[in-house]
Amino acid sequence: MNVVMVGTGYAGLVSGLGYAKLGHRVACVDTDASKIARLDLGDVPFYEPGLPELLRDMQEAGRVVFTTDLAQVIDGSDVVMLAVGTPPRPTGEADLRYVFQAADEVGACLGHEALLVVKSTVPVGTNRRVLSHVREAMTATGRGELAPLIQVASLPEFLSEGRALADFFAPSRIVIGAEDPVAHDLLERLHAGVSAPLILTTLETAELTKYAANAFLATKVSFINEIAHVAERVGADVRTLAKAIGMDPRIGPSFLQAGIGYGGSCFPKDVSALHQLAGYNGYDFKLLSAAIEVNNRQRDLFLRGAEDVLGGFQGRRIAVWGLAFKPRTDDVRESAAIDIVQRTFARGAEVAVYDPKAMGRARSVLGDRVEYAPTAMDAASGADALFLLTDWPEFREVSFDTLREGMMSPLIFDGRNLLADLRLRDRGFTYYGVGTNG
Ligand code: UDX
Repeated sequence: MNVVMVGTGYAGLVSGLGYAKLGHRVACVDTDASKIARLDLGDVPFYEPGLPELLRDMQEAGRVVFTTDLAQVIDGSDVVMLAVGTPPRPTGEADLRYVFQAADEVGACLGHEALLVVKSTVPVGTNRRVLSHVREAMTATGRGELAPLIQVASLPEFLSEGRALADFFAPSRIVIGAEDPVAHDLLERLHAGVSAPLILTTLETAELTKYAANAFLATKVSFINEIAHVAERVGADVRTLAKAIGMDPRIGPSFLQAGIGYGGSCFPKDVSALHQLAGYNGYDFKLLSAAIEVNNRQRDLFLRGAEDVLGGFQGRRIAVWGLAFKPRTDDVRESAAIDIVQRTFARGAEVAVYDPKAMGRARSVLGDRVEYAPTAMDAASGADALFLLTDWPEFREVSFDTLREGMMSPLIFDGRNLLADLRLRDRGFTYYGVGTNG
């Protein structure tokens, strides 16, 4: 099939190259000319394992092109997919201006029957509004007779950064929301080669499913973080507890890692968008209010714990390992680590930071208010304390003897419990985890 993918962010680029790999011909469109130019040169503008190789393979196979000119590539397309950003407004609701701008642009140049697909995470009811935008734009540009032939389908993505290609080619399920069985069939064919259960449902159900999935996972994280606080008070270990409850298939082992809480470009915005959506529809979603509050409080409690032990941050040198919102990505959007760094230097500390992949993006947020160390060990040199804020596996491989000798005081606050099983107290450190009691 011929696919036009509008938007070349994480979801759009990964999905576009994924469809090309499945044998389709894909035209990726973005308004950002510099991003398109980089992609055209085979350069992926963010870190995602395996994506650069897939990009080059698909370009060599001639199955993907990049352009800023939608009109140039829309003719002959079977599917026009919107994968543009839906960032949160200050109120928490999703900002849909880019979705509707893209819909208006599609309608202004679509001259044949094609399936409109919304991959972006959007509030319930948005797919129908996108279809109206496209049909109205078609009518306004003289192709009103075609407009009724255009259908819309909701195809939410469930890609996790750092493992996006695995999630694309081996998803737990593919959710397709549409009114028209023809749309269900066409999207089933689009995914030929991906062996996963298909959920064929309505537009509204597909839209709400995406929010519910992320909100549940975020709530699970806040749950284990509250259990961690109880564990600390009663002398229990939250990691063993998480392993034990996760063995129950009804609970499952994932998203039970206690720490400084969730961040990223999805959980915070999707949880607040769902909370807003429920409120607009007359329902006060109490569990989500609590999950949000618990998550925000994690950062405060981490800092308060460190401040109590250090006797304040003024004049202290704090080393920070990890800035990305999670490992295997360079993404710092809504990163709890970045938030903690900002609060730490705001309290008068001198902060030295290191992250294996996110230094560049972190610098654009933190500016020159922190020291950017070339290695983890350099960051820790002369530090009064070490904050471990992103669980990059390489932080477990350092020489802890060298680390202890290099620090001003061998004090570690591990915000991800990455080092909790290394018995650092027996190696001369004062170690604090989250809910691990040592
Ligand atoms: C998430 C969903 O997993 C994915 O399905 C959806 O399509 C997009 O949003 P992502 O945002 O890439 O993916 O990251 P994820 O791996 O879900 O982690 C989100 C945040 O939760 C990270 O900050 C991570 O550190 C935190 N987290 C995750 C925990 O604190 N504890 C856990 O046990 C798991």
